[in-house]
Formats: sequence, C-alpha cells, structure tokens
Amino acid sequence: MAFTLQVNGREHQVEAAPEESLLSVLRDRLELTGTKYGCGEGQCGACTVLLDGSAVRSCRLQVSAVAGKKITTIEGMAHGEHLHPVQQAFLEAEAFQCGYCTPGMILSAVALLEHTNKPTDKQIMSLMNGNICRCGTYSRILQAVHTAAAMSRSKGNER
Ligand code: FES
Ligand code: FES
Repeated sequence: MAFTLQVNGREHQVEAAPEESLLSVLRDRLELTGTKYGCGEGQCGACTVLLDGSAVRSCRLQVSAVAGKKITTIEGMAHGEHLHPVQQAFLEAEAFQCGYCTPGMILSAVALLEHTNKPTDKQIMSLMNGNICRCGTYSRILQAVHTAAAMSRSKGNER
C-alpha cells in the first residue's frame, strides 16, 4: 500500500505493508538510519522518535497508524550546521560511549523538555526510564539534560 509520511518537515511517499513498523520504514525505505533497532519490543528506547511532539517507540508503531502525523527523527534535529540544544548539551557532557542509545535518548529528552525546562533528577529518571544505555552513561545523560534545560531557560522559555 502507499502511505504519505511527514518526516522531518518533508513529505515522503512510501510503499509498505500496513503492519510494517515505522522503524523499518524509516531505516530501510527512507534511509534514516539514525533511529536504531534495539529490542524490537518497546523495551529499550533505541528506536524513539517524536510523533506529533511526543516520544514514541517506532518499533511498536505500524506505518498505517502514523500516516499524516508529524514524525521527527534525530536527522531532523539540527538546522544546517546548528545542532539542536539537546544535541549540543549531549556533546558537551560527553553523554555517550558507543552512541547507540543516543538518538533515542536525545529525542526522549526533547519531549521531556517540552513539558518542563526545570526538571528534577527524579523527573528525568522517571520520564527517561524506558531508554536503556548499555554503556551506563546515565550520570552524564542526566547532566546533559540539565544543561539543555538551563540553555532553554536562558533563552527565556520558562515552563
Ligand atoms: S527497538 Fe524499539 S524499544 Fe527497543
Ligand atoms: S552510549 Fe552505548 S548504549 Fe548508550
């Protein structure tokens, strides 16, 4: 079947079975390989993307369910040479080792910071609990999210 997907501000026509996962369509048909395959069961967060601004597990979403919705992947975060503030914060905090979890972590953090830009450690750990980092860089990820939140507050976006 043909589906029209809105990904990173661009419209894409794709041919796929309705039950094919969004993750598979992003990676295999649109070549957006920044979104990672981890468990395939909604348990690790490696495949996290934004769907109409909310963090979702793309391995558990059928492509037929997301047609017409606004999908954002890690490739849609930077504007030209300018990294998204959360990407910049992860870079500055060196909040990764192998980097496999990082796209999903960043998108979960972006969704979190849409709701509050003064999160507590407890809020961050609770809301990002479903994102697993096998390298164990959690303390730096925490630091990066706080840094990104501070950057957002300094721009006057108090939430
Ligand atoms: S690959 Fe989707 S949650 Fe693990
Ligand atoms: S940096 Fe390796 S899994 Fe998180």
